[in-house]
Amino acid sequence: MKTLIQGATCVFPGETRQADVLVDGTAIVAIDPPSGTSADECVDATGLHLIPGVVDDQVHFRDPGLTEKEDLRTASHACAKGGVTTFLEMPNTIPNAIDQQRIDEKLALAAEKSVVNYGFYIGATGKNTQCLREANRVAGIKIFIGSSTGDLLVDEQLALEEIFEQTTLPICAHCEDETTFRRNKIRLEHRGRGITWRDHSEIRDHMAAVIATARAIELAKYYRHRFHVLHVSTADELPLIADHGGLITAEVCPHHLLFNVDDYERLGSLIQMNPSIKTAADNAALWKGLLDGIVQVIATDHAPHTLAEKDQPYPKSPSGLPAVENSLALMLDRVNKGLCSLEQVVAWMCDAPARVWDIVNKGRIVEGYDADLVLVDLNRKDTILNENQLTKSRWSPWHGTHLKGWPVRTWAMGQTVFQDGKVNVSAHGTEVTYDHSRGGYWATM
Ligand code: DOR
Repeated sequence: MKTLIQGATCVFPGETRQADVLVDGTAIVAIDPPSGTSADECVDATGLHLIPGVVDDQVHFRDPGLTEKEDLRTASHACAKGGVTTFLEMPNTIPNAIDQQRIDEKLALAAEKSVVNYGFYIGATGKNTQCLREANRVAGIKIFIGSSTGDLLVDEQLALEEIFEQTTLPICAHCEDETTFRRNKIRLEHRGRGITWRDHSEIRDHMAAVIATARAIELAKYYRHRFHVLHVSTADELPLIADHGGLITAEVCPHHLLFNVDDYERLGSLIQMNPSIKTAADNAALWKGLLDGIVQVIATDHAPHTLAEKDQPYPKSPSGLPAVENSLALMLDRVNKGLCSLEQVVAWMCDAPARVWDIVNKGRIVEGYDADLVLVDLNRKDTILNENQLTKSRWSPWHGTHLKGWPVRTWAMGQTVFQDGKVNVSAHGTEVTYDHSRGGYWATM
């Protein structure tokens, strides 16, 4: 099947201009093909922007084991609607994805259910270093240095040293210091007036994030091991992350950019997240960290729980919120507000994550690259509503938010997966290919 996308303003590496893009099968085969080039479908994209598909490198899709919250089918539909053409999913499913057999099982599930492209991380347990060393078909290794949803946790120094010393795949980590937040919780409980979700950001406080991020970066430096800091939440982590000569990359999530402790009153446990949301000053510093290039990636940490679970009293209410179907629109709205450029959004959400994880042929509109593409209407206005969400959890912390700038059509490997407000539920996504000899983000600058 050949598709000719005509007249869109295309965001290419280093250049944004109006062009025609020819897709043949799964690949982009020509930019500005000769006039008269025939195709099975010609798409008049005048007035729209064409960008590479979003690569979301941190999602929790709950399949297998917690499919009442989400599964690979519903999550991938939400991705297609949101312009996310590739996701990399975390290992805290049930069972945990901690060996090759579990990874292969998840890849098989995704091949059956996902309409967009997929990849998975292998989780560290502190006892599976051999599995981490031998793993293949994975994006990298995930370490929960602080515990979150599920039971994955590695916070003993010797176990962490072993992983950084004896493995070669790139590592990413959830950085919140277990000792710090457990101690904070005990301290607040002893006040004698109980704890609520308002206290979540005091329990998982700034120090918890800073201590764990500093600790992980020290390990990465000592063992010269590539390391990606997931969901940075504080201003104070930024100086720790900067300037490590290519060893360290980092990401922020929309909720840490857009929500702060003042929003607990309005949103309660809906914005209970790990790492916790912090202050308005942190929001501003994280945004500046992106603009300054200290942070390279925006990812969602899409972590759906049912509203019934969220309604439980703290701390029974689980941490996490869904985001894949709105993350791109939230950033396009910022483009319209003049806070950043569309090129920066493409760098943070498409190009950089593909390079951090050595993903082959994704994240850019280039001849020969995969035809993972999103048509964006920067003038389209719409409101996020719980009732319209495709995530199985059927809610969004941004319910009621008006945004200008939305994805209107999405292709994954040349197949239309979202168009005219509908997901192509019969599409099949493709497993991501990695080339870990590429050396990551900084090696390909
Ligand atoms: O709040 C969170 N929830 N943070 C994480 O890192 C994990 C996630 C989940 O899986 O629910």
